[in-house]
Amino acid sequence: MALGAPVGDEPAAAVPPSDTTAAPAVAQAQAPAAAASPSLPALPELEPVPELQPEPAKPWVQAALTRKKIPVWAVPVLLFLPFWAIIFAGTLESPERDSEIIALGREVYEGNGGCAGCHGAEGGGGIGPALADGEVLNSFADWQDHVIWVVNGSPPAGQVYNDEGDISTAGMPANGDKLSAREILAVVYFERVELGGAAEADLHDLEELFEAEGAVPSQFDIGQIFPSTLTSLMASAGIGAG
Ligand code: HEC
Repeated sequence: MALGAPVGDEPAAAVPPSDTTAAPAVAQAQAPAAAASPSLPALPELEPVPELQPEPAKPWVQAALTRKKIPVWAVPVLLFLPFWAIIFAGTLESPERDSEIIALGREVYEGNGGCAGCHGAEGGGGIGPALADGEVLNSFADWQDHVIWVVNGSPPAGQVYNDEGDISTAGMPANGDKLSAREILAVVYFERVELGGAAEADLHDLEELFEAEGAVPSQFDIGQIFPSTLTSLMASAGIGAG
């Protein structure tokens, strides 16, 4: 209240003089304005003000337009991307192609071929001889002999059946009537590469024959497959000598 009273008093006391003095001031202010209004050509001079408004934005816009969108460090990265993509695609392709024959071979070895039951899950041997650690490669140096063996199975007991001069017990069943030709090619590939430790490069022809589906018969007939059979199959599929 003590503060309110002086505050209330001051405007009250100030108003009368201000009213009197303001009226002329307004009149004076209006008078120059009215006097200035004839000089309207001065207004166009003010128009540059709107033009100035875009100008502060122009440096920013220009900077944004002229700025390089791709940083310098990204240029080699972007240039390398296509090469990386090709290399990456290449790494995908080979395992994918190999995995088909190896996957099918493993399936036959462990599954419908029943090979693991006599030769061991890892090829360590059992009723049948060991295949792992190069054993199967010593027994059949040529993969075509290996294919023929798996199709036909053991000869009569007592006969030499492999490159090492081992004598047959007649314990190995024939597979030509049970497995498809492609399954036999695949299981031979699997036994040589995954169990025997052969280099895949050494079995390029076998892999190509496996992939030449049109050239491979549905089955290899027992007693009707010879090295010449496979050779002519590969020739008709356009697979190189080997
Ligand atoms: C019933 C048991 C049995 C089954 C199943 C079997 N094998 Fe055999 N396998 C043998 C025997 C036994 C021999 C040794 C040859 C003989 O005694 O006549 C042998 C020999 C082999 C050899 C030669 C090995 C060497 O070092 O001489 C290969 C290769 C082979 N088998 C692959 C296969 C494949 C592939 C399968 C599956 C499709 C298979 N075997 C299924 C019993 C079997």
